[in-house]
Amino acid sequence: MINISNRLKTVASLVLEDNKTKSLIDVGCDHALLDIYLLQNNDNLKIVASDINKGPLDKAKENITKYSFLDKIKLILSDGISSIDDTIDTVVISGMGKDTILEILSNDKEKTKNIEKLVISSNNKFPSLRQDICALGFIIDKEQIVYEDGKFYIIIRFIKGNKNYTTKEIYFGPYLLQKKDSLFDKYYNYLLEEKKNILNNIPKEYKDKRNNIEMEVKMLVEEIKN
Ligand SMILES: C[S@@+](CC[C@H](N)C(=O)[O-])C[C@H]1O[C@@H](n2cnc3c(N)ncnc32)[C@H](O)[C@@H]1O
Repeated sequence: MINISNRLKTVASLVLEDNKTKSLIDVGCDHALLDIYLLQNNDNLKIVASDINKGPLDKAKENITKYSFLDKIKLILSDGISSIDDTIDTVVISGMGKDTILEILSNDKEKTKNIEKLVISSNNKFPSLRQDICALGFIIDKEQIVYEDGKFYIIIRFIKGNKNYTTKEIYFGPYLLQKKDSLFDKYYNYLLEEKKNILNNIPKEYKDKRNNIEMEVKMLVEEIKN
């Protein structure tokens, strides 16, 4: 079995565990390690590994050849989801910032209509990621926090649907709020310390900025305590 990071293993488990994916695209596949791992766990999957840059695709081809999956993984040079057809039921976007992820999905809104499942591993801005992807007609099906190499990641599985979430659910994640595992406390305590530090460094005259962070600190303190 190929050796991949815990973050990528979590992305893979969120793709595989509901047994619903038949055909997926990995947008920004880079080395394509995720796609090799996915096939090693389910060789019925149809996988398109795509990247906007040729360098990563060459690296992907090298890895896919090494693991003898050249006939199973279609490699394409492509921007976002612009080249997907309606046979693709699952889209993975992993290892990018929230703004890039949103741009990829919003640039091809029509194409998102055929997608049943999105598995997203953003590097940042988790609340606005939840908010903006749900506004495209998805609901949050499952989320998992991963702590690796001193960094926290939240991997989120979205499925088709419409739901109104509370401010608290958007901020903490509705699924994470319900489960509240040990990483929940670890991550949100870390975030609380980060927000307190930011607050200490914002001059008094920036009232609006201070108010926003103060609200976050209050919400974090209340939730961690409960
Ligand atoms: C940091 S790598 C992430 C690799 C892997 N997905 C992971 O999670 O480890 C980001 C990759 O996304 C690609 N990328 C950035 N913007 C893209 C876009 N609009 N469409 C397709 N690929 C993109 C980059 O070329 C790069 O290979």
